[in-house]
Amino acid sequence: MDNKFSRRKFISLCFSILGFFLFKDALSFLTSKTGDEQEGMISFGRPEDYPAPGVYKGNGAWLVRDARGFFALNSRCSHLGCSVVEWDEGRGIFICPCHNSKYGLDGSVLEGPAAAPLKPVQVTVDGKGNIVVDLKQQVPKDSRLAV
Ligand code: FES
Repeated sequence: MDNKFSRRKFISLCFSILGFFLFKDALSFLTSKTGDEQEGMISFGRPEDYPAPGVYKGNGAWLVRDARGFFALNSRCSHLGCSVVEWDEGRGIFICPCHNSKYGLDGSVLEGPAAAPLKPVQVTVDGKGNIVVDLKQQVPKDSRLAV
């Protein structure tokens, strides 16, 4: 009786482990990136989609168009790293919802507790003509992509 119970328990354990790996693989497949996506790269689409100066939200970055062209800011707060600093259109500033740090349009700190600006990151146009922001490439503050 003891032996039969142990065998049943062993088989149940094997199916549980098998189920775990199948679930993990299925989840990995469902969340995998397409061939066009790369880690830290954010596509904003065609430059002509942004005909006027403005601030546009992407997944991990803000794309800004001003009179000189496009630049992008990493939307991660420089204070403790809250992931989404929000744009306040009415006041024309970025605000972190975590501890209320405020940043200017260029990412400079207007009010703490943040002590460092939002990181300016690289904006390019890829081979398909889409604006792409690379979160891994920090650039000088005044960099612009002229279009
Ligand atoms: S994490 Fe943004 S103000 Fe603290």
